[in-house]
Amino acid sequence: MMFGPHFLISSLFTLAISANVILPSPSGPYAVTQNTLKLTDESRVDSLDPKHGKRQIMVSSFYPVKSSACEKPCEIPYMSPNAAPIVEAFLGPFGIQGGALGKIRMQGCCKATCQESNGNGEIPLVFLLHGFGGTRLLHNALAQELASMGFAIITMDHTFESVLVEFPDGTVIRPLNDSSLDTTIPGRLESLQDIRVDDARFVMSQLGSKDVVAKLVPDSRCTFNAERAAVIGHSVGGSTSMKLLMKDLRFVGGLNLDGEQFGEITDMQQPAVLFGTTGVTPVPHNSTSDPSWAKTLDHLKGWKREIGLNNISHTGFTDISFLVGTGALDIPKEAADQFIGILDGKRSFEIFSTYVAAFLDFVLRGGKTALFDGPSEKFPEIVVL
Ligand SMILES: *[C@@H]1O[C@H](CO)[C@@H](O)[C@H](O)[C@H]1NC(C)=O
Ligand SMILES: *[C@@H]1O[C@H](CO)[C@@H](O)[C@H](O)[C@H]1NC(C)=O
Ligand SMILES: *[C@@H]1O[C@H](CO)[C@@H](O)[C@H](O)[C@H]1NC(C)=O
Repeated sequence: MMFGPHFLISSLFTLAISANVILPSPSGPYAVTQNTLKLTDESRVDSLDPKHGKRQIMVSSFYPVKSSACEKPCEIPYMSPNAAPIVEAFLGPFGIQGGALGKIRMQGCCKATCQESNGNGEIPLVFLLHGFGGTRLLHNALAQELASMGFAIITMDHTFESVLVEFPDGTVIRPLNDSSLDTTIPGRLESLQDIRVDDARFVMSQLGSKDVVAKLVPDSRCTFNAERAAVIGHSVGGSTSMKLLMKDLRFVGGLNLDGEQFGEITDMQQPAVLFGTTGVTPVPHNSTSDPSWAKTLDHLKGWKREIGLNNISHTGFTDISFLVGTGALDIPKEAADQFIGILDGKRSFEIFSTYVAAFLDFVLRGGKTALFDGPSEKFPEIVVL
C-alpha cells in the first residue's frame, strides 16, 4: 500500500464535501475567455488511427480581453465531466481521489466584445504543449495565467497518445494500447514526436483562417498575431517545442520545461530556454546530467539560457503544483513531495509562470527582463546555469 491510511481518510473527507472548488483568479491584468475546437487535417491520414481516418486535433484557446471588455465573468469547469474521472484515474497513483478534479472551477470570462481600434491584432500567440501521454487539460491553469498577461494561448492534444481526447460530440478517444506507444522500441518516441510536430504546424496554419480564429476568440473583432508564435512545452512537449524551432520559422522562440531532447538536433537561431530542476530535487536535470541538453545548447545559435528550479520535481511543471498548492487538490504530503517536489506548489507555479511570462514578453513583445541574467532576490529558488 503506497499511501495507506492517509489515502483512505482523505478520500472519505472528500466524499463528504461535494461543493465546487474555485481556483484563484489569474494574476495578470486581463480577463481570459476560453474556447475549444476540433480541427481536422484533411491532408493527413492519421497513422495512429486503427480506422485510418484523417488526423483530428482538439485545441483550446485562452484569449486575453481588457477587464472592462468582459461582459460576463463566469466559472468554467477545469475539466469536463467526461474527462475528469479519466484524468483522476490516470493520476490515482499520486494520491488524487476520484471526484477531485471534476469539482474544480476556474474564474474566467464567458462573454466579451473587442473594440475595432484596440490593437488586438498585436496580441502575441503562444503554443503550450503537454508531456507524453498527458493532456492539455492539465495546463489549463498555466494557459489562463499566461493569457491574463496579454498572450493568446493555444493548447492541443495529440490524439491516440494523450491520456484522453474528448471531441465536441462527447466522443472520447483513449491512448492506443499496443506497440504504437511503446517508447522502449528504438525510434518510436521520435516518430511520435514527429506526429506532434505535424500537429502543431497544422494548427499554426489553421490560425491563418478567419473562420478558425472566429471560433477561438470571443468576437470577430478579437484577433491576434497569427503569423508567428512562441512555443513552450512540458517534458516531451518541451522537446517538441525545440523540434518546432528547428522545423518551422513561424515559431520564433521556444522554452522547454524539463524535457529530455529527443530526435535529431539541428541548429536553431531563435531565442530559447531550457528550464530544468536543481538542488534536492529527486533527480536534478540539467545539461551536465543530460547530454541531450548539452547538445541542444550547442545547436542553439541565438540568445539562450539554461535555468533550474530548486526542489521541484518533473511533474511539478504541470498545473498539479498549482492545484495542490492552492488546496484545490488534497493529496498526501509524501505523494506531493514525490510528485510536485518539496517546494510549495503555489510557489513553484508562481516562479515558473513568472519566468515563462518574462521569456514570452522578451521574445514576442521585445520586453526587457533581468531574470535570466543571474540570481534573483525575489526568486532565490532559481539557478541560472
Ligand atoms: C491493454 O492491453 C493489455 C494486453 O492486451 C490488457 O491486459 C490491458 O487490460 C489493456 N489495457 C487497457 C487500459 O485497455
Ligand atoms: C547539474 O547536474 C549535475 C549532475 O547531476 C549536478 O552535479 C549539479 O549539481 C547540477 N547543477 C545544478 C545547478 O543543479
Ligand atoms: C530546498 O529544500 C531544502 C530542504 O527543505 C531546503 O533546505 C532548501 O532551502 C530548499 N532550497 C531552496 C532554494 O528553496
